[in-house]
Amino acid sequence: MANSEPDDVRFRAPAVGRNRDPILEVLRDVLPRSGTVLELASGSGEHIIHFAEDMPDLTWLPSDIDPEALGSIKAWRAHSGLSNIHLPISLDVTSDEWKLPDDTGDLIGVLAINLIHIAPWGACEGLIRGSASRLSANGILYLYGPFKRSGRHTAASNQSFDEMLRRHDPEWGVRDLDSVIEYAGHYGLNLDQVVEMPSNNLSVILRQP
Ligand SMILES: C[S@@+](CC[C@H](N)C(=O)[O-])C[C@H]1O[C@@H](n2cnc3c(N)ncnc32)[C@H](O)[C@@H]1O
Repeated sequence: MANSEPDDVRFRAPAVGRNRDPILEVLRDVLPRSGTVLELASGSGEHIIHFAEDMPDLTWLPSDIDPEALGSIKAWRAHSGLSNIHLPISLDVTSDEWKLPDDTGDLIGVLAINLIHIAPWGACEGLIRGSASRLSANGILYLYGPFKRSGRHTAASNQSFDEMLRRHDPEWGVRDLDSVIEYAGHYGLNLDQVVEMPSNNLSVILRQP
C-alpha cells in the first residue's frame, strides 16, 4: 500500500481497484437490507467506502489491528463525506471478546477480505468465533481470497502465491476451504454459498442460523 502526498495518510491498495466491484456484486446479493456490517482488517479502508456508497441503507463499521491502517480509513471516511460509516475501531480478530461501539446495533454482516491467508490460522479461528458470537440471526460472515479445495490448489498462480506467503511467514498461507467450513461448523456457522471470483479467488458466505 502507498500514499501519494506526505500529509495524505490515505493508503491506496492497487488490488482494491480490481476486486471491489466483483465483491460488491456478491455483497448486494447476500447482505440483508438493514443493519450494521463490520469489516475486519479493513486495511486502506477503500473497500468499505465503496460498499457504503453503494448501500446507503446499511451502517458500516471499519476496523483493523494496525494504527496506520486506522489512520488511512479515518482519512478516507472524512474524504468520502458519507454519514453511514462509523469511525474505525481497533480490533484484533484473535481477541477473546470483540469490543464494538455501544450503538453498533444488529450486526448483520462481518467481512474479512484478504485476511485469513495473510495471518496465522489463529486469525481465521478468531474471526469465526467472534463472528459467531456477535452476528445476529441469519447474519453472514463473508470471506474473500484464494482457497485450496479438498486440500489442493485450484491454480498454479495460487500455489506460487502460497509459497511466497509461507516464505515470508511460515504461519501464513492459502487456507483449505474444507478446514474453514469445518471450523465454522463447530461454532454454528453454516456454509451458504461459494462464488468463484476473478483471478482464482473465492467469495465464501457462512451464515448464522
Ligand atoms: C492484506 S491486508 C488486507 C486489507 C484489506 N482487507 C484489503 O483487502 O485490501 C491484511 C490486513 O489485515 C490486518 N490484520 C492482520 N492481522 C490482524 C488481526 N489479528 N486482527 C485484525 N486485523 C489484522 C492488517 O493490519 C492488514 O490491514
